[in-house]
Amino acid sequence: RFKIDMAAGYSQGIFLDQRDHRRRVRERSVPGMRVLNTFAYTGAFSVYAALGGAQTTTLDLAQPCLDWARENFILNGIDPSAQYFCKGDVRRWLERFARQGRTFHGIILDPPTFSRDDRGKVFRVESHYGELVALARECLEPGGWMLCTSNCRKLGHEDFRRMVAQAVPGFRLTRDPMPPDFSGEDYLKRLWIDWK
Ligand SMILES: C[S@@+](CC[C@H](N)C(=O)[O-])C[C@H]1O[C@@H](n2cnc3c(N)ncnc32)[C@H](O)[C@@H]1O
Repeated sequence: RFKIDMAAGYSQGIFLDQRDHRRRVRERSVPGMRVLNTFAYTGAFSVYAALGGAQTTTLDLAQPCLDWARENFILNGIDPSAQYFCKGDVRRWLERFARQGRTFHGIILDPPTFSRDDRGKVFRVESHYGELVALARECLEPGGWMLCTSNCRKLGHEDFRRMVAQAVPGFRLTRDPMPPDFSGEDYLKRLWIDWK
């Protein structure tokens, strides 16, 4: 169950093309696991991970998004006070987690195509996704997984795969099919990274 705001233009609260990924996140999340949801928006991936039993960390630059994520937890019978929330830039938080030795069994990386952090630093999927994966890799618990996804249409699947593979050499990469009801353009980049 997710709160939707039909008056909010393109940001109504949920991305339907990530539905199958959310289901897979729930299947991969079990009690005792820690799951980090970066660029979390309204926390939909976090809700699914928590429903699977994981303890979640929901990370976003925007406080209204974190508040919305809290509401989505409550709508699903999950006590948000038992979950973590981090406000700020993903790259800076990943560096901080790595310095602190804080690790996660699952990490979700679904950034916007382009953004600026609170200090004006640019993030562009085509240029910075590999760097993001490498930073997240430093916070991955041995045996863990990452979901790498993007709706950037300018980026081809092969280029995306190359960027991700270079950031995590030796890891297994697999690609899910497009959700069957999104039967048009194959735009959604989607790779699971598994520690071999
Ligand atoms: C496209 S949405 C992500 C969708 C989300 N993964 C989902 O499945 O619902 C982009 C989100 O990234 C956040 N964001 C953008 N730049 C950021 C940054 N540098 N650090 C943290 N969050 C950022 C925005 O506030 C927004 O909530």
